Amino acid sequence: MTINRILSRCMVAAATLLPATALAQNVEGNLQSEFAKKAIDSGAPRVYVPTQENLDARKEFEKKRFGIFIHWGFYSMPGQGEWVLTRSNVPFDEYVELASGFYPSKFDAKEWIDLFKEAGAKYMVFTTRHHDGFSMFDTKYTDYDIVDATPFKRDVLKELADECHKQDFGLNLYYSHVDWYRDDYPTGWSANEYPNLKKHDDVPYEPYYNFMNNQLTELLTNYGKIGGIWFDGVFDHRRDSMDWHFPEQFDLVHKLQPACLIANNHHRQIQYGEDFQIFERDLPGENKSGFGTAGGVSELPLETCQQIVNGSWGYHVNKMNCKSPAELIGTLVATAGKGANLLLNIGPRPNGSIPGPAAESLRGLGKWLDKYGETIYETEKGDVSGSWGSSTRKGDRLFVHITRRPGDELYLPINCKVKSAKMFIDGTPVKFDQWKHGVQLQLPEATEGEPVMVLELLTADR
Ligand code: GLC
Repeated sequence: MTINRILSRCMVAAATLLPATALAQNVEGNLQSEFAKKAIDSGAPRVYVPTQENLDARKEFEKKRFGIFIHWGFYSMPGQGEWVLTRSNVPFDEYVELASGFYPSKFDAKEWIDLFKEAGAKYMVFTTRHHDGFSMFDTKYTDYDIVDATPFKRDVLKELADECHKQDFGLNLYYSHVDWYRDDYPTGWSANEYPNLKKHDDVPYEPYYNFMNNQLTELLTNYGKIGGIWFDGVFDHRRDSMDWHFPEQFDLVHKLQPACLIANNHHRQIQYGEDFQIFERDLPGENKSGFGTAGGVSELPLETCQQIVNGSWGYHVNKMNCKSPAELIGTLVATAGKGANLLLNIGPRPNGSIPGPAAESLRGLGKWLDKYGETIYETEKGDVSGSWGSSTRKGDRLFVHITRRPGDELYLPINCKVKSAKMFIDGTPVKFDQWKHGVQLQLPEATEGEPVMVLELLTADR
């Protein structure tokens, strides 16, 4: 048994005997003390009441409709995705050695944000620490981070945060609850599944929990305004009874930044402290990815994350087959039609640049958004969707995005009166017949080079 493990065991043994305040002294700062106290006293059911700032932030978040997800770490070096350590059964110590060779010489925060803005995105989600436990920011709670363990020595998160704030671009942070590196992480499913991971399922949770909360405190105090925290990793203890003590952790996040929105990628019903709902590679309510959403679609803001290449989040040299701008536009209109934000993922190269095909597709999407952004940003879920496409709504304007032309006519079973219909792009009138339970549209000729036909209907109550 390592010294660390003995120490952490002693801490928990002491915690069971000492009053909560005594253990609370083992972690930093007042906030930490309070939450540690609560963590020990927890168990009572509680109701989450979001602050007004938080409710306002949710509305702002929903308006954005399109963000960029970044999976980037030294795991990008072998070019086999972010799970390369486990899925390729890399000897653990060799994997860790890679960090000392990580030097992303082409990383330029401004270039990234310029590109994301050109693509029409309004925010990004950056992986501050993925399951391999490596911190992509300067943290004093471990040396296994980009500043201390790589020759690059730059706090890339700081550079990104400064640029985001400068350009008024939203910054949300991904944070993994799983850690394949630390000895104090109570291992779960992945350590059983992958033989190269060390198993230590018998360690107490508190030291690791305090570590995460200390890091979250750094993330929420050293980098300015953070729009949201995107938690991931519940899968590792899905099959056991581990209590992650999320309520106290989420309270800490909200205490540090009340407007910071929390989401947890657990594919289940919304739980205490969560501010928006994530759908992994699926539209809300659908289950094509197999992750489903046991709890259905909530009333909270919704976000769907998708990959720009199929099959990998992190950079993968064999998966460069990027989705075309037309495909991305189709995904964006379908997602907005469900009232959700699209979080589109790209995996930067180990040198810090964005792969060319991904950058090109992003630019193509941006060109479309330059013309049609009004039908996407700040819209609500539309009244109707079908195999032909979907719709979004802004007040009495219904935007109909036709991605698969059904023929020369389209019947929409909508429950409102249509006052007028036109092509969104140039105002050309569109003929229609109002029926009892809907409207029949006579579709104009398709315009060459336009992947989606967008109609605008002015509606009124019946
Ligand atoms: C899954 C993957 C993880 C990825 C996440 C993004 O949880 O395990 O690697 O970061 O999806 O949605």
